[in-house]
Amino acid sequence: MHRVALLGGDGFIGWPLALRLALENSAQVLVVDSLLRRSTDVAIGNASLLPIALPLQRVAAANAEAARRPGCAGKVTFVHLDAAKHPVALVRELEAFAPTCVVHVAELRSAPFSMRSAGAAQLTVANNVVATSNLLAGMAHSPALRGVHVVHIGTMGVYGYDHQEGALVQEGYIDATVDGRTRCMRAPACPGSVYHATKVLDAGLFDVFARLHGMRVTDLHQGIVWGSQTAETALAPHLRNRTAYDETFGTVVNRFAAMVANGRRMPLYGGGEQRRAFIHLEDAVAAVAKIATAPWDPAAVAPGREVRILNQVCQVASPLDIATWIRAACEQTPSLAGVCSRMAEEHGEDAEWHEAVPNPRTEAPNNVLCVANERWRAASGSAAARQTEFAHGALAQLLQEAAGAPPWESTVNVDTATLWPGRQSAAA
Ligand SMILES: NC(=O)c1ccc[n+]([C@@H]2O[C@H](COP(=O)([O-])OP(=O)(O)OC[C@H]3O[C@@H](n4cnc5c(N)ncnc54)[C@H](O)[C@@H]3O)[C@@H](O)[C@H]2O)c1
Repeated sequence: MHRVALLGGDGFIGWPLALRLALENSAQVLVVDSLLRRSTDVAIGNASLLPIALPLQRVAAANAEAARRPGCAGKVTFVHLDAAKHPVALVRELEAFAPTCVVHVAELRSAPFSMRSAGAAQLTVANNVVATSNLLAGMAHSPALRGVHVVHIGTMGVYGYDHQEGALVQEGYIDATVDGRTRCMRAPACPGSVYHATKVLDAGLFDVFARLHGMRVTDLHQGIVWGSQTAETALAPHLRNRTAYDETFGTVVNRFAAMVANGRRMPLYGGGEQRRAFIHLEDAVAAVAKIATAPWDPAAVAPGREVRILNQVCQVASPLDIATWIRAACEQTPSLAGVCSRMAEEHGEDAEWHEAVPNPRTEAPNNVLCVANERWRAASGSAAARQTEFAHGALAQLLQEAAGAPPWESTVNVDTATLWPGRQSAAA
């Protein structure tokens, strides 16, 4: 029987993962969440595109769905606990639950948020790094938890995105030759925000606890997630997943889909030629569920590479590519004809659906990105074989959700609160 403790299980990836594990893998799932994301959304005036249920309503709906499924022994329980602030309680909950795997997705995950003020940067670092350190230290010093597999979702952003030379971004480690001597080392980090830097700091902690305490850690360097619902979250309103469409937490595909569905042009920062790695939510959830329920493979690690680092990525694209595909998905999907007419009414029949806007971020205007992900493909196995690339069907589904949401008022494309510090004076 799989018993998965899921830190951050009320979040965008965590909630559909909890459902997948309980409903498809018959797992016992302990969701541990501080609800920091919900309170941050309230504090900065954000909301999901369509409303989401309260945590206990979600859990009740999940367990009702499990009870309806013949042969399903899965169950979700929820603990309201801050992993960064309550290390002793965290270990107590984990020891009582006796997990077969701990999935850690309990972090504040917005690059723009982490750059908007000193307080936001400090909160991001204190929350993310301390939550990770509390988890690892607590497990390493608990005989009952030390050998339990920890799966963390990191980010492709740890490697940085300013590469121009086109070398493959390796899965975590490179062979570096200095003065004729070659050694294996973690790939150099070049984070583009304080948030991304917290993932680099996490990686340092994983290294120490894997190397010195023998802990079993998989760190998934993940691309930007797009899509909003999975097979399970679409089953009932109380199971629905959050869809962020704002400048702070909304990732580019979802934000563009929501904007177009609301009659807005898609804003391309500085022309939109920055290439980034992407993965659909379905693929991310399927892969993590597979990795979290597979037995730990000692061959997956080796001296010098004690942490299993995998690039959880399906595709590379630029915002300009995405804007082009979103328009094509609208134009080729009969049920989205209303979106096309609205864009034509607002901006003219032949107008572009995207527009270049000043880039609020400090980043290269374009880059080359080639990502190695063979080890991730092997570890996620058939679960990721489906690989939802930017297919019209999946984009159309997202656009349909956005088109069904209530309209919202906004006149700005770039919220000045998201400006990277170096950009503040330029905008003034
Ligand atoms: N969404 C993406 O595009 C994306 C891309 C790459 C990596 N990731 C990583 O995946 C993970 C999950 O991302 P997400 O999109 O689901 O984010 P999310 O904000 O929707 O979910 C994170 C959840 O963790 C909880 N949380 C945060 N700090 C906590 C703490 N100290 N104790 C307990 N709970 C805490 C939040 O309340 C929230 O429910 C993050 O670590 C993120 O960095 C996400």
